[in-house]
Amino acid sequence: MENIHENGTFQLHNKVEIPQVGFGTWQMPDGETAADAVMHAIEAGYTHIDTAAVYHNEIGVGAGIRMSGVPREKLFVTSKLWNDVRGYEETLKAFDASLKRLALDYLDLYLIHWPRPLAFRDTYQEVNRETWKAFEYLLEKGYVRAIGVSNFLPVHMEALLKTAQVIPMVDQIEFHPGWMQPETVAFCKEHDILVEAWSPLGSGKLLEDPKLKEFGQKYGRSTAQICLRWCLQKGHLPLPKSVTPVRIKENLQLFDFQISQEDMAVIDKLECVGRTGSDPDNAKF
Ligand code: A2P
Repeated sequence: MENIHENGTFQLHNKVEIPQVGFGTWQMPDGETAADAVMHAIEAGYTHIDTAAVYHNEIGVGAGIRMSGVPREKLFVTSKLWNDVRGYEETLKAFDASLKRLALDYLDLYLIHWPRPLAFRDTYQEVNRETWKAFEYLLEKGYVRAIGVSNFLPVHMEALLKTAQVIPMVDQIEFHPGWMQPETVAFCKEHDILVEAWSPLGSGKLLEDPKLKEFGQKYGRSTAQICLRWCLQKGHLPLPKSVTPVRIKENLQLFDFQISQEDMAVIDKLECVGRTGSDPDNAKF
């Protein structure tokens, strides 16, 4: 794959370069755990760190970034707006609070975390539009280099695009073998929106899949690496998460092998394992 190479980037539609593998931090406790994991990840070569207000670990993530000693501009940092916040002013305040917790003066990417929060279930279309205006303001003023959404299905995206001046650059969705969300992926492709994959290992569930294990043996790789390389070859950006140093390293070693087209097709057709997370349209939060 000529567009996949070590420390390579995908290009967002506003020309911002985003490192091809991100380090996910969901469920990583704040404080030392998050700080150490992020520092290890950066030492292992990750330059892209993904957090969110609701992970409650932005302070630790920021500390890990500083502990790494790598200059800020060499890193790509994402955070997300949580579901209890919508609307123009409230969004700007929440963004500012995330920046303060991270102790950064800009973000590389800011995402609306879920499309249809419980608190705004019936008015989500209007409130997302107001929220998006704040995102556009943050982009225009340079507080963030790219803006996007997470867990948006085409129905949520279509509502947003009715009034959006800027098309989201990213949609971060659950994506792994056995859960490929073809309609959402097709929508994103059509609008030049990069798909980022959360839980690219199916929250660890896929690591026992016999076919993926078999491919691991065939390519001399771990099952996790097969899932992540497959994701990259599909043109999507995987966000593996681990607190285990050896796995953190392993999950970035994806650039010196290639899955054949034939084997890609076999993985594409693996039995549907379903989502491991919530249904974006009916999440209970
Ligand atoms: P741990 O954090 O204890 O290392 P996903 O990203 O799909 O949500 O999966 C995350 C889960 O997979 C975590 O429980 C993590 O465990 C585990 N995991 C991450 N990378 C690997 C790997 N290379 N091999 C085995 N398990 C992994």
